Amino acid sequence: MSISKAASSKLTSQNTIEKRLQIQRLQEPTLIVSPSAGSDVVKGLTQTPKSLPPRYFYDDHGSELFEQICELSEYYVTRTETAILQQCAGEIALITDHCELVELGSGSSTKTRILLDAYNELSYPLRYLPIDVSAGMLESSARQLLADYPSLQVHALAGTYELALAELKPAKLPNRMICFIGSSLGNMNSQECDVFFSQITDALEIGEYVLLGVDLQKPKHLLEAAYNDSQGVTAAFNLNMLEHLNRQFEGNFDTTQFEHWAFYNETKNQIEMHLRSLRSQTIQLRTLNLTVHFEAGETILTEISRKFDLNSIQQALKAKSLVPQKVWTDPNQWFGLLLCQLQASTAV
Ligand code: TRP
Repeated sequence: MSISKAASSKLTSQNTIEKRLQIQRLQEPTLIVSPSAGSDVVKGLTQTPKSLPPRYFYDDHGSELFEQICELSEYYVTRTETAILQQCAGEIALITDHCELVELGSGSSTKTRILLDAYNELSYPLRYLPIDVSAGMLESSARQLLADYPSLQVHALAGTYELALAELKPAKLPNRMICFIGSSLGNMNSQECDVFFSQITDALEIGEYVLLGVDLQKPKHLLEAAYNDSQGVTAAFNLNMLEHLNRQFEGNFDTTQFEHWAFYNETKNQIEMHLRSLRSQTIQLRTLNLTVHFEAGETILTEISRKFDLNSIQQALKAKSLVPQKVWTDPNQWFGLLLCQLQASTAV
Protein backbone atom coordinates (compact mmCIF):
# COMPACT_ATOMS: atom_id res chain seq x y z
CA MET A 1 0.00 0.00 0.00
CA SER A 2 1.31 3.42 -0.89
CA ILE A 3 1.90 5.95 1.80
CA SER A 4 -1.16 8.21 2.21
CA LYS A 5 -1.06 11.86 1.18
CA ALA A 6 -1.66 13.00 4.76
CA ALA A 7 1.12 10.78 6.12
CA SER A 8 3.59 11.90 3.48
CA SER A 9 2.89 15.59 4.06
CA LYS A 10 3.33 14.99 7.79
CA LEU A 11 6.75 13.46 7.04
CA THR A 12 7.70 16.44 4.90
CA SER A 13 6.68 18.87 7.62
CA GLN A 14 8.67 16.92 10.20
CA ASN A 15 11.69 17.10 7.92
CA THR A 16 11.38 20.84 7.71
CA ILE A 17 10.89 21.42 11.43
CA GLU A 18 14.60 21.96 12.03
CA LYS A 19 14.69 24.51 9.22
CA ARG A 20 11.72 26.38 10.63
CA LEU A 21 12.92 26.43 14.23
CA GLN A 22 15.43 28.75 15.79
CA ILE A 23 16.06 28.87 19.55
CA GLN A 24 18.13 31.72 20.88
CA ARG A 25 19.33 31.55 24.48
CA LEU A 26 19.74 34.99 25.96
CA GLN A 27 21.15 33.78 29.23
CA GLU A 28 23.64 30.97 29.48
CA PRO A 29 22.31 28.33 31.90
CA THR A 30 25.51 28.77 33.92
CA LEU A 31 24.60 32.38 34.60
CA ILE A 32 21.44 31.25 36.36
CA VAL A 33 23.52 29.57 39.06
CA SER A 34 26.13 32.32 39.21
CA PRO A 35 27.16 33.70 42.62
CA SER A 36 24.73 36.60 42.27
CA ALA A 37 21.84 34.12 41.91
CA GLY A 38 19.79 34.23 45.06
CA SER A 39 20.58 37.82 45.98
CA ASP A 40 16.87 38.52 45.34
CA VAL A 41 15.99 35.79 47.86
CA VAL A 42 18.34 37.24 50.46
CA LYS A 43 16.89 40.69 49.91
CA GLY A 44 13.27 39.51 50.18
CA LEU A 45 13.77 37.38 53.29
CA THR A 46 15.79 39.97 55.20
CA GLN A 47 13.36 42.84 54.76
CA THR A 48 10.19 43.55 56.78
CA PRO A 49 7.60 42.45 55.78
CA LYS A 50 9.22 39.45 54.08
CA SER A 51 8.67 38.65 50.42
CA LEU A 52 9.96 36.27 47.76
CA PRO A 53 10.23 36.86 43.99
CA PRO A 54 7.40 35.11 42.08
CA ARG A 55 9.86 33.66 39.57
CA TYR A 56 10.70 30.96 42.12
CA PHE A 57 7.23 29.45 41.57
CA TYR A 58 8.35 28.07 38.27
CA ASP A 59 10.50 24.99 38.57
CA ASP A 60 9.29 21.91 36.66
CA HIS A 61 6.81 20.91 39.36
CA GLY A 62 5.63 24.51 39.77
CA SER A 63 4.97 24.83 36.03
CA GLU A 64 2.97 21.58 36.15
CA LEU A 65 0.93 22.84 39.11
CA PHE A 66 0.31 26.10 37.29
CA GLU A 67 -1.10 24.18 34.29
CA GLN A 68 -3.42 22.42 36.78
CA ILE A 69 -4.53 25.76 38.27
CA CYS A 70 -5.60 26.85 34.79
CA GLU A 71 -7.97 23.85 34.62
CA LEU A 72 -9.65 24.44 38.00
CA SER A 73 -13.35 25.30 38.02
CA GLU A 74 -12.78 28.15 40.51
CA TYR A 75 -9.97 29.65 38.41
CA TYR A 76 -12.17 31.41 35.83
CA VAL A 77 -9.23 33.38 34.32
CA THR A 78 -7.93 30.92 31.72
CA ARG A 79 -11.25 29.69 30.37
CA THR A 80 -12.74 33.20 30.24
CA GLU A 81 -9.78 34.61 28.32
CA THR A 82 -9.77 31.60 25.99
CA ALA A 83 -13.48 32.08 25.22
CA ILE A 84 -12.91 35.78 24.42
CA LEU A 85 -9.96 34.93 22.18
CA GLN A 86 -12.04 32.37 20.32
CA GLN A 87 -14.64 35.06 19.66
CA CYS A 88 -12.31 37.80 18.49
CA ALA A 89 -9.24 36.12 16.96
CA GLY A 90 -10.62 36.53 13.42
CA GLU A 91 -11.11 40.23 13.99
CA ILE A 92 -7.64 40.62 15.50
CA ALA A 93 -6.11 38.97 12.43
CA LEU A 94 -8.07 41.29 10.12
CA ILE A 95 -7.02 44.43 12.02
CA THR A 96 -3.35 43.51 12.46
CA ASP A 97 -3.03 42.00 8.95
CA HIS A 98 0.24 40.25 7.96
CA CYS A 99 1.64 40.25 11.42
CA GLU A 100 4.21 38.28 13.37
CA LEU A 101 3.36 37.22 16.90
CA VAL A 102 5.69 37.81 19.81
CA GLU A 103 4.47 36.21 23.01
CA LEU A 104 5.80 37.04 26.47
CA GLY A 105 5.65 34.13 28.92
CA SER A 106 4.45 31.76 26.22
CA GLY A 107 4.41 28.63 28.42
CA SER A 108 2.66 25.81 26.58
CA SER A 109 1.36 28.22 23.85
CA THR A 110 -2.17 26.77 24.11
CA LYS A 111 -3.99 30.07 23.63
CA THR A 112 -1.59 31.10 20.85
CA ARG A 113 -3.05 28.41 18.63
CA ILE A 114 -6.32 30.33 18.49
CA LEU A 115 -4.50 33.31 16.99
CA LEU A 116 -2.36 31.20 14.66
CA ASP A 117 -5.54 29.52 13.38
CA ALA A 118 -7.07 32.93 12.66
CA TYR A 119 -4.03 34.12 10.64
CA ASN A 120 -3.88 30.75 8.92
CA GLU A 121 -7.50 31.03 7.84
CA LEU A 122 -6.70 34.27 6.05
CA SER A 123 -3.73 32.49 4.42
CA TYR A 124 -1.31 34.87 6.11
CA PRO A 125 2.29 33.79 6.65
CA LEU A 126 2.88 32.55 10.19
CA ARG A 127 5.81 33.72 12.24
CA TYR A 128 5.92 33.26 15.99
CA LEU A 129 8.48 34.50 18.52
CA PRO A 130 7.75 32.93 21.92
CA ILE A 131 9.67 34.32 24.89
CA ASP A 132 9.98 32.34 28.11
CA VAL A 133 12.57 31.72 30.81
CA SER A 134 12.16 27.97 30.40
CA ALA A 135 14.15 26.87 27.32
CA GLY A 136 12.83 23.30 27.70
CA MET A 137 9.21 24.45 27.63
CA LEU A 138 9.96 26.71 24.63
CA GLU A 139 11.48 23.92 22.61
CA SER A 140 8.81 21.31 23.30
CA SER A 141 5.88 23.64 22.61
CA ALA A 142 7.60 25.06 19.50
CA ARG A 143 8.10 21.56 18.09
CA GLN A 144 4.45 20.71 18.60
CA LEU A 145 3.34 23.91 16.91
CA LEU A 146 5.71 23.36 13.99
CA ALA A 147 4.35 19.85 13.49
CA ASP A 148 0.78 21.18 13.44
CA TYR A 149 1.36 24.30 11.29
CA PRO A 150 3.44 23.33 8.26
CA SER A 151 4.10 26.89 7.11
CA LEU A 152 4.96 28.27 10.57
CA GLN A 153 8.39 29.73 11.37
CA VAL A 154 9.37 29.90 15.04
CA HIS A 155 12.15 32.01 16.51
CA ALA A 156 12.13 31.30 20.25
CA LEU A 157 13.93 33.53 22.73
CA ALA A 158 14.89 31.93 26.04
CA GLY A 159 15.37 34.58 28.69
CA THR A 160 13.71 37.31 30.69
CA TYR A 161 11.22 39.72 29.09
CA GLU A 162 13.72 42.51 29.54
CA LEU A 163 16.54 40.77 27.68
CA ALA A 164 14.26 39.44 24.97
CA LEU A 165 12.54 42.77 24.30
CA ALA A 166 15.90 44.47 24.04
CA GLU A 167 17.00 41.77 21.59
CA LEU A 168 14.00 41.94 19.23
CA LYS A 169 15.00 42.68 15.64
CA PRO A 170 12.68 44.60 13.27
CA ALA A 171 9.67 42.51 12.21
CA LYS A 172 10.16 40.26 9.19
CA LEU A 173 6.47 40.57 8.30
CA PRO A 174 4.74 43.91 7.58
CA ASN A 175 3.46 44.16 11.14
CA ARG A 176 4.06 42.83 14.62
CA MET A 177 1.97 42.15 17.72
CA ILE A 178 3.36 41.52 21.19
CA CYS A 179 0.94 39.30 23.16
CA PHE A 180 0.94 39.58 26.90
CA ILE A 181 -2.06 37.59 27.99
CA GLY A 182 -3.13 35.62 31.07
CA SER A 183 -3.25 38.83 33.14
CA SER A 184 0.45 38.55 33.88
CA LEU A 185 0.46 42.35 33.91
CA GLY A 186 -1.42 42.04 37.20
CA ASN A 187 1.56 40.28 38.74
CA MET A 188 3.62 43.48 38.44
CA ASN A 189 3.25 46.42 40.80
CA SER A 190 2.61 49.80 39.24
CA GLN A 191 6.29 50.77 39.20
CA GLU A 192 7.25 47.48 37.51
CA CYS A 193 4.41 48.07 35.02
CA ASP A 194 5.87 51.44 34.07
CA VAL A 195 9.31 49.96 33.43
CA PHE A 196 7.75 47.08 31.50
CA PHE A 197 5.72 49.40 29.24
CA SER A 198 8.73 51.49 28.40
CA GLN A 199 10.57 48.29 27.40
CA ILE A 200 7.57 47.38 25.22
CA THR A 201 7.33 50.76 23.52
CA ASP A 202 11.10 50.78 22.93
CA ALA A 203 10.83 47.36 21.27
CA LEU A 204 7.95 48.33 18.95
CA GLU A 205 7.83 50.47 15.83
CA ILE A 206 5.03 53.01 15.39
CA GLY A 207 1.95 51.18 14.04
CA GLU A 208 2.79 47.88 15.72
CA TYR A 209 0.45 46.23 18.21
CA VAL A 210 0.18 44.90 21.75
CA LEU A 211 -2.50 42.38 22.74
CA LEU A 212 -3.09 42.60 26.45
CA GLY A 213 -5.23 40.29 28.59
CA VAL A 214 -6.26 41.72 31.97
CA ASP A 215 -8.35 40.35 34.80
CA LEU A 216 -11.06 42.78 35.89
CA GLN A 217 -12.42 43.82 39.29
CA LYS A 218 -15.24 41.63 40.50
CA PRO A 219 -16.89 40.57 43.79
CA LYS A 220 -14.44 39.51 46.48
CA HIS A 221 -15.88 36.02 46.97
CA LEU A 222 -15.29 35.09 43.32
CA LEU A 223 -11.72 36.36 43.44
CA GLU A 224 -10.85 34.71 46.72
CA ALA A 225 -12.27 31.36 45.55
CA ALA A 226 -10.05 31.52 42.45
CA TYR A 227 -6.89 31.79 44.58
CA ASN A 228 -8.03 29.39 47.34
CA ASP A 229 -9.31 26.45 45.34
CA SER A 230 -11.05 23.59 47.12
CA GLN A 231 -8.56 20.99 45.87
CA GLY A 232 -5.61 22.87 47.32
CA VAL A 233 -3.69 23.13 44.03
CA THR A 234 -2.96 26.84 44.51
CA ALA A 235 -1.79 26.10 48.06
CA ALA A 236 0.55 23.39 46.71
CA PHE A 237 1.78 25.80 44.03
CA ASN A 238 2.55 28.45 46.64
CA LEU A 239 4.26 26.02 49.05
CA ASN A 240 6.28 24.52 46.20
CA MET A 241 8.27 27.74 46.15
CA LEU A 242 9.87 26.68 49.45
CA GLU A 243 10.76 23.24 48.01
CA HIS A 244 12.31 25.02 45.04
CA LEU A 245 14.42 27.20 47.36
CA ASN A 246 15.43 24.12 49.41
CA ARG A 247 16.70 22.44 46.27
CA GLN A 248 18.36 25.44 44.70
CA PHE A 249 20.00 26.86 47.81
CA GLU A 250 20.35 23.82 50.11
CA GLY A 251 17.56 25.03 52.36
CA ASN A 252 15.68 23.38 55.19
CA PHE A 253 12.18 24.90 54.94
CA ASP A 254 9.66 22.42 56.35
CA THR A 255 6.59 22.96 54.15
CA THR A 256 4.29 21.43 56.78
CA GLN A 257 5.16 24.40 59.02
CA PHE A 258 3.86 27.01 56.56
CA GLU A 259 0.41 27.57 55.08
CA HIS A 260 -1.00 29.19 51.98
CA TRP A 261 -2.87 32.45 52.61
CA ALA A 262 -4.49 34.47 49.82
CA PHE A 263 -6.99 37.32 50.15
CA TYR A 264 -8.35 40.21 48.15
CA ASN A 265 -7.12 43.62 49.25
CA GLU A 266 -10.05 45.83 48.26
CA THR A 267 -8.14 49.06 48.83
CA LYS A 268 -5.40 48.11 46.41
CA ASN A 269 -7.63 46.00 44.13
CA GLN A 270 -5.26 43.09 44.29
CA ILE A 271 -5.07 39.49 45.41
CA GLU A 272 -2.14 39.06 47.80
CA MET A 273 -0.70 35.62 48.13
CA HIS A 274 1.40 34.78 51.17
CA LEU A 275 3.05 31.88 52.96
CA ARG A 276 2.36 32.02 56.68
CA SER A 277 4.62 30.50 59.31
CA LEU A 278 2.63 28.22 61.60
CA ARG A 279 5.07 28.61 64.49
CA SER A 280 8.16 30.43 65.58
CA GLN A 281 11.00 28.86 63.60
CA THR A 282 14.41 29.48 62.08
CA ILE A 283 15.46 28.24 58.66
CA GLN A 284 18.75 28.15 56.78
CA LEU A 285 19.62 28.45 53.10
CA ARG A 286 23.16 27.11 53.15
CA THR A 287 24.49 28.18 49.79
CA LEU A 288 23.23 31.71 50.44
CA ASN A 289 24.75 31.73 53.91
CA LEU A 290 21.40 32.89 55.19
CA THR A 291 19.59 32.23 58.46
CA VAL A 292 16.05 33.56 58.75
CA HIS A 293 13.81 33.72 61.78
CA PHE A 294 10.01 33.63 61.56
CA GLU A 295 7.58 34.56 64.33
CA ALA A 296 4.45 32.42 64.62
CA GLY A 297 1.97 33.86 62.11
CA GLU A 298 4.61 35.86 60.22
CA THR A 299 4.04 35.99 56.46
CA ILE A 300 6.06 36.04 53.23
CA LEU A 301 4.42 37.83 50.28
CA THR A 302 4.91 35.63 47.19
CA GLU A 303 2.63 37.22 44.57
CA ILE A 304 0.21 40.00 43.87
CA SER A 305 -2.47 39.75 41.21
CA ARG A 306 -3.93 43.15 40.43
CA LYS A 307 -7.47 43.43 39.17
CA PHE A 308 -8.11 46.19 36.66
CA ASP A 309 -10.83 48.63 35.72
CA LEU A 310 -11.32 48.57 31.97
CA ASN A 311 -11.67 52.35 31.61
CA SER A 312 -8.67 53.24 33.77
CA ILE A 313 -6.37 50.75 32.05
CA GLN A 314 -7.36 52.15 28.65
CA GLN A 315 -6.52 55.67 29.83
CA ALA A 316 -3.20 54.48 31.27
CA LEU A 317 -2.27 52.71 28.02
CA LYS A 318 -3.21 55.72 25.93
CA ALA A 319 -0.96 57.88 28.11
CA LYS A 320 1.89 55.55 27.13
CA SER A 321 1.06 55.96 23.40
CA LEU A 322 -0.39 52.44 23.31
CA VAL A 323 -3.78 53.40 21.95
CA PRO A 324 -6.58 50.84 22.39
CA GLN A 325 -8.05 50.01 18.99
CA LYS A 326 -10.60 47.48 20.15
CA VAL A 327 -11.54 45.99 23.49
CA TRP A 328 -13.36 42.70 24.05
CA THR A 329 -14.81 41.25 27.21
CA ASP A 330 -17.02 38.31 28.28
CA PRO A 331 -20.75 38.58 29.12
CA ASN A 332 -19.93 38.88 32.88
CA GLN A 333 -17.22 41.48 32.24
CA TRP A 334 -14.78 39.36 34.22
CA PHE A 335 -11.85 39.66 31.84
CA GLY A 336 -10.71 42.14 29.22
CA LEU A 337 -8.69 41.74 26.05
CA LEU A 338 -7.25 44.96 24.60
CA LEU A 339 -5.68 45.40 21.19
CA CYS A 340 -3.48 48.50 21.35
CA GLN A 341 -1.41 50.19 18.68
CA LEU A 342 1.77 52.17 19.29
CA GLN A 343 1.12 55.63 17.94
CA ALA A 344 3.44 58.60 17.66
CA SER A 345 3.49 60.43 20.94
CA THR A 346 1.48 63.67 20.85
CA ALA A 347 3.24 65.07 23.91
CA VAL A 348 5.27 68.22 23.24
N1 TRP B 1 -1.42 36.01 36.03
C1 TRP B 1 -2.28 35.02 36.60
C2 TRP B 1 -3.05 35.54 37.79
O1 TRP B 1 -2.64 36.50 38.39
C3 TRP B 1 -1.52 33.77 36.93
C4 TRP B 1 -0.85 33.66 38.26
C5 TRP B 1 0.31 34.18 38.63
C6 TRP B 1 -1.33 32.90 39.34
N2 TRP B 1 0.60 33.79 39.89
C7 TRP B 1 -0.38 33.02 40.36
C8 TRP B 1 -2.46 32.14 39.54
C9 TRP B 1 -0.57 32.41 41.56
C10 TRP B 1 -2.65 31.52 40.76
C11 TRP B 1 -1.72 31.65 41.76
O2 TRP B 1 -4.08 34.98 38.10
